[in-house]
Amino acid sequence: MEKNKKVLVVGSGGRCHAIVKALARSPQVEKIYCAPGNAGIAEDAECVAIGVEDVDGIVNFAKENNIDMTVVGPEAALAKGVVDALEAEGLKAFGPTKAAARIESSKEFAKQIMEKYGVPTAAYKAFDNFDEAWEYVKNRPLPAVIKYDGLAAGKGVVVALSYEEAEAALRDMLLDSSFGKGRVVVEDFLDGPEFSFMCVVSGNKVYPLAMAQDHKRAYDGDKGPNTGGMGAYSPVPFITEEIRDIALREIIQRTADGLVAEGVPFKGVLYGGLILTKEGPKVIEFNARFGDPETEVVLPRLVSDFYELIEAAVEGKDCETKWSDDAYLGIVLASEGYPGSYEKGAEIKGLENVTGEVYHMGTKRDGHKILTSGGRVLMVVGKGKDLAEANAAAKAEIAKIDCPTLFHRTDIGKASL
Ligand code: AMP
Ligand code: GLY
Repeated sequence: MEKNKKVLVVGSGGRCHAIVKALARSPQVEKIYCAPGNAGIAEDAECVAIGVEDVDGIVNFAKENNIDMTVVGPEAALAKGVVDALEAEGLKAFGPTKAAARIESSKEFAKQIMEKYGVPTAAYKAFDNFDEAWEYVKNRPLPAVIKYDGLAAGKGVVVALSYEEAEAALRDMLLDSSFGKGRVVVEDFLDGPEFSFMCVVSGNKVYPLAMAQDHKRAYDGDKGPNTGGMGAYSPVPFITEEIRDIALREIIQRTADGLVAEGVPFKGVLYGGLILTKEGPKVIEFNARFGDPETEVVLPRLVSDFYELIEAAVEGKDCETKWSDDAYLGIVLASEGYPGSYEKGAEIKGLENVTGEVYHMGTKRDGHKILTSGGRVLMVVGKGKDLAEANAAAKAEIAKIDCPTLFHRTDIGKASL
């Protein structure tokens, strides 16, 4: 196999860093560019100063540099139609078209597909009028689950434990709308442990990836506000083969087939944010991309060639994947205040002493210094023969990192340790 492929990865967070590292292990990949990347990614790829929503900039770069494949990470880029624009120029791109990415960007579209094709999920109703929404919610049992219908970086969901909280959320999303044009989906509350099932999908073909579990709440014990994710691990022992097979058949395959039937075939990563209820696995949400921070613990387990998998999906070919039995557990170091407001620019010391894997989520280089430049800053991933060992390894590495404005959860993976 020739090592001659040039790849462009679009993105700048930890997920993007994990994608870059997985591509760097491929025997076919000669050169990796990243737009725009970050201080950590710069060690594994050549970063180019093109923003993730700069559609023309991305297309021109891919054309001028004879890029064989562009991998599009962030939802904002997908929703902007980066994949459509690349394909219109005859360039290969891994990621869904703007139309197919609506499975993530529109909660209502996702719900309609699930309802029509029999994918298990919570019953729902959509509203754009405050009075009608409030009338519905106040006559339903609590907790009330209220979701803003649009991209809101994981922060557009309120699980209201009281009617006051539910009313305030509806007011915020439909009347004051700090998010944009207001429309909400109100759905039944589902109970059980959550897990993330990411699958590479190409039309009707599904190539499952290893299971992971994310931790959405900011603080230990699943307390505090929802975040983009504070840590993750893989494998997930409580997801048996049987549950996985049900999720694959009834959730991912049905959704992939449904999207084909609707004339919007999906190509890329279909991420099922699932919950294991007493009646079996159900969908909380779909994403149209790799999850962050799940990707940082899933892709390191992929033993087979990642580029081959991506290319197979883009070309609609079969592909076998091989996975390691090792366990990976990653802990996010976030800026104090996240997911609310936080300060940037604090120096991170001690990174040179870390021997395990560190994924940069929001960092910036300033001369020889590495500074914080985001809410989620670093993800430290430990590896072991089981999750307890991986947890100990991650914690030992975190102890070497010195930055007073960073905090992290200490109970990642607790349910499985
Ligand atoms: P989402 O952005 O849709 O993934 O929702 C964020 C978080 O809200 C999820 O990870 C769940 O913890 C919670 N959530 C969303 N929908 C429901 C639901 N129907 N029942 C229970 N919890 C939910
Ligand atoms: N970890 C959740 C997400 O990627 O949306």
